[in-house]
Amino acid sequence: MFFAYPSRPEKLVLKGIDISVSPGERIALVGMSGAGKSTLTQLLMQFYKADKGEIFIDDFPINKYDLSDVRGNMAIVPQDVMLFGGSIKDNIAYGNPSASDSDIMEAAKKANAWEFIEGFPSKMDTIVGERGVKLSGGQKQRVAIARAILKDPAILILDEATSSLDAESERLVQEALQLLMVGRTSIIIAHRLATIKDVNQIYVLENGTIAEKGTHQELLQNENGLYTSLAKLQFEY
Ligand SMILES: Nc1ncnc2c1ncn2[C@@H]1O[C@H](COP(=O)(O)OP(=O)(O)O)[C@@H](O)[C@H]1O
Ligand SMILES: [Mg+2]
Repeated sequence: MFFAYPSRPEKLVLKGIDISVSPGERIALVGMSGAGKSTLTQLLMQFYKADKGEIFIDDFPINKYDLSDVRGNMAIVPQDVMLFGGSIKDNIAYGNPSASDSDIMEAAKKANAWEFIEGFPSKMDTIVGERGVKLSGGQKQRVAIARAILKDPAILILDEATSSLDAESERLVQEALQLLMVGRTSIIIAHRLATIKDVNQIYVLENGTIAEKGTHQELLQNENGLYTSLAKLQFEY
């Protein structure tokens, strides 16, 4: 698939990307900043349309489905989670407005968020945002994960979901994400390669193209490959 943002039609951001994911599989997208990873997720979520090429879900072109069904079956956990000014409960329930209080609490527990929520005097009714409590990056991340758990999507997109966290929040968030991914088709954009060692397929994006693809072990066989050079920067040999 080919794509340029409408604001910069002369600059192709995706140049012949071809990716396929089977139901329940986990794939990862890695590569330098600006390679086009987040752009792919924007196309999946239908915020933009490819200039050439198509996205298929269960063998049907994505535009044959209702937009609300497509988005209703996907959840994205980004690097910078934006919560709206309301209670923690409202922010979690946004994933599924008909959820009961106990569903919301259950989701918060699975997301490793319950412990810090319980520490606030108003618990789930604590107001966040400008007029309320300021949550840390890791806390916001876990609220977003609780929201995704409640939404129960078939397709999960993690876009550098743990990139900006300290080690302890990263552990808690990573643990919650592992649980969230179970039984879902997951697309993981990861900065730290250690977190994607076990995925079914890794795509290494470079400047809008797929430079390499394979499993972690397969990609490491290519000593001069981009993946190996990224890995060398991160792992100890
Ligand atoms: N909304 C946008 N409008 C125009 N160009 C954009 C927009 N978002 C990203 N880009 C450009 O698209 C390219 C790919 O960006 P992105 O998909 O965010 O990369 P990655 O997630 O791999 O770091 C970059 O050159 C970036 O500047
Ligand atoms: Mg990105």
